[in-house]
Amino acid sequence: MDMFEAIGTQRAMRRLKPDPISDEDIWKILDAAIKAPSGSNRQPWNFIVVRDAETKRKIGEYYLDAWNKAYVSGPVQAALREPRMAGVYRSAEHLAHHLAEAPVLIIATIRKDGASISPTAGASIYPAVQNLMLAARALGLGTTLTTLHKFHEEEVKQLLGIPEEVETMALIPLGKPKGRFGPPTRLPVEKVVYWEKWDERRER
Ligand SMILES: Cc1cc2nc3c(=O)[nH]c(=O)nc-3n(C[C@H](O)[C@H](O)[C@H](O)COP(=O)(O)O)c2cc1C
Repeated sequence: MDMFEAIGTQRAMRRLKPDPISDEDIWKILDAAIKAPSGSNRQPWNFIVVRDAETKRKIGEYYLDAWNKAYVSGPVQAALREPRMAGVYRSAEHLAHHLAEAPVLIIATIRKDGASISPTAGASIYPAVQNLMLAARALGLGTTLTTLHKFHEEEVKQLLGIPEEVETMALIPLGKPKGRFGPPTRLPVEKVVYWEKWDERRER
């Protein structure tokens, strides 16, 4: 698949079929992930591939609890409940109630430098996550970058045997999508690009 087509049609695919995903596809996707850059080429990442039904069920419970706390009764409820966000809300709500049905959950982790995580740590893991999602798209598989499980970071770490010096950074459900891929909704590029100085825009 052409790279620009993959980028141009990759969006959050939260409704996934339970059909199994082959090891071969998973290796291919993760091999693309680890080609990403990281600070000093430290490659601080690990990826945990979860297919076990009971483990997914437990993660799903934590995720749904986080969803309920954050979006049903929590402070971010208002933002996602705006009319223009209705589609995203419904889709995210669906995922929250069906996370464990995804055939694969991939948890991307990062090794901490010391006791805490540096403010730029994400820059050494999210390029890999993006590679992962684009590679999945090229294989016709849907993904979503999610972080809600972080409400239950300690429980998820314990469940997966993740050591103290490692932190989870993303949880990516992976599977064949029920819906169709399509262009993500974004502001036009001319609105967000400045040339030479802040606020100096150009027409294309
Ligand atoms: C840092 C980050 C955290 C996210 N966390 C979640 C999440 O916990 N649950 C979820 O359903 N989507 C999550 N998303 C997905 C975003 O909602 C999605 O990327 C955004 O709405 C754009 O969707 P689109 O690419 O389909 O247009 C997250 C995305 C990012 C970048």
